[in-house]
Amino acid sequence: MTALDLNSPVAVVGSGTMGQGIAQVALVAGHPVRLYDAAPGRAGQAAAEIVARLDRLVEKGRLAAADRDAARGRLEAVGTLSELAGCGLVVEAVLERLDVKQQLFRDLEEVVGEDCLLATNTSSLSVTAIGGALRLPGRFVGLHFFNPAPLMPLVEVVSGSATDAGAAGRALETVRGWGKTPVACADQPGFVVNRIARPFYAEAFELYETRAADPATVDAVLRESGGFRMGAFELTDLIGQDVNEAVTRSVWESFFQDVRFRPSLAQRRLVESGRLGRKSGHGWYPYAEGAERPEPHTAGPEEAPGHVILLGDLGPAADVVELIREAGIDLRIEDEGFAAEEEKGRLVLPGGGTLVLADGETVGEYGPDLVSFDLALDYRAATRIALAASPVTSPDTLAEAVGLFQALGKKVSVVGDVPGMIVARTVARIIDLAFDAVARGVAGEEDIDTAMRLGVNYPLGPFEWSRRLGDDWAYGVLDAVHEREPSGRCAPSLALLRHAFTAAK
Ligand SMILES: NC(=O)c1ccc[n+]([C@@H]2O[C@H](COP(=O)([O-])OP(=O)(O)OC[C@H]3O[C@@H](n4cnc5c(N)ncnc54)[C@H](O)[C@@H]3O)[C@@H](O)[C@H]2O)c1
Repeated sequence: MTALDLNSPVAVVGSGTMGQGIAQVALVAGHPVRLYDAAPGRAGQAAAEIVARLDRLVEKGRLAAADRDAARGRLEAVGTLSELAGCGLVVEAVLERLDVKQQLFRDLEEVVGEDCLLATNTSSLSVTAIGGALRLPGRFVGLHFFNPAPLMPLVEVVSGSATDAGAAGRALETVRGWGKTPVACADQPGFVVNRIARPFYAEAFELYETRAADPATVDAVLRESGGFRMGAFELTDLIGQDVNEAVTRSVWESFFQDVRFRPSLAQRRLVESGRLGRKSGHGWYPYAEGAERPEPHTAGPEEAPGHVILLGDLGPAADVVELIREAGIDLRIEDEGFAAEEEKGRLVLPGGGTLVLADGETVGEYGPDLVSFDLALDYRAATRIALAASPVTSPDTLAEAVGLFQALGKKVSVVGDVPGMIVARTVARIIDLAFDAVARGVAGEEDIDTAMRLGVNYPLGPFEWSRRLGDDWAYGVLDAVHEREPSGRCAPSLALLRHAFTAAK
């Protein structure tokens, strides 16, 4: 499939945040671009803003002055829809309302030729529903750019039920030609990124609602242990709680209120109180001048244990064993009588207490002598590790566990006894939704990995993460979490179960 010819004009309808960004991308790629907006004067203003942005790129040496001048010559703000006749592609970025978008495309169909590709930048409406208003819905696709469009490399190319494969292929090659990384996906709620990213927020909010940890601690653990660029609380403060919640509600409602996508009551209250995040001066955190940012829980110094006994293997946490050796702690391997098939790999502390990797069970089930530690993306690079203790965990066992990780150079956050802790449950749920999405035909594995790395900056794609952790790891965690929290919110999908039981065979 070939990309749209660079001489073919591209129209952008709606010249707000996204429209301006998309217009800039098409313009710099070499197309003539026509901007239209329903608000009088808005398109002209937007064109001026785009040119000002190009000027800044020239100042920074990222665009040649001659290219800026040529781009300026190709950019035109128009005052009526009929001036979009002759365009090869129209990208719509207007208000997120089905009736408004449908009417716009009905009007556009009267103006443009039958070979003009029509695209919507909707992030939450059904592409199929918008295209349903068209006489020729085969040439209609979703082109979901991320904000800011000139900087974000990912574009989800969404095929509605009536979209022709040729039109989707042409749209995909066109945005690839614009220097973007397109991923093809089907028209299901949230497409790829907004669907699979939901648990990143939901699990953090759930931990807060169940008082397992405060926002600052969850954020610190997600960043410093999980390898995520930002924690869920600080990220939603940046996005805006209203905007983030609207995406969650839309995905949840579009899935007929599937419990796996259930919104958070705590976030609802935040939105109701007007604490929308940075833009309103207060969200999960305060942003007023001089406001103190809460600190994550960080345990005080404890003595390093004199020795540690390793039983079995620690699976995805095997590097912890290496780190213990390198820290000069006497590591004894006493596997005699250890039944690897039935027993968890664990570290035994000098006082007789044990330390296990979070696996979806709770530590309280095992009495006073168990502490669990959370999953880390890379135990060597992690600067913080979360430990879970129950109300009955013996203070001595906890102190020895804290001292051990401190001796490995880590800060330690002690959190409540929730199955799957923080990173482990979050990563397991992201992996689960990714397997489920593939099984339901949303997109392919590689495209999902690409989308999650580029769309929301995850350190690894869900499938890469799953391979690294072991094929049955995520299933094991979620199966155990689900047994303990049987609402169905964390129930592993059939696709994940199949993978766990067939991949290794
Ligand atoms: N902001 C984001 O982060 C983001 C990311 C991806 C997708 N989107 C989607 O992109 C679209 C636009 O979002 P935005 O943030 O740029 O909104 P925005 O409010 O900044 O801009 C919307 C523009 O559309 C114009 N408009 C409204 N109705 C119109 C009509 N019938 N015809 C022509 N122009 C009309 C408005 O005057 C306004 O200038 C929405 O569908 C949104 O869901 C937004």
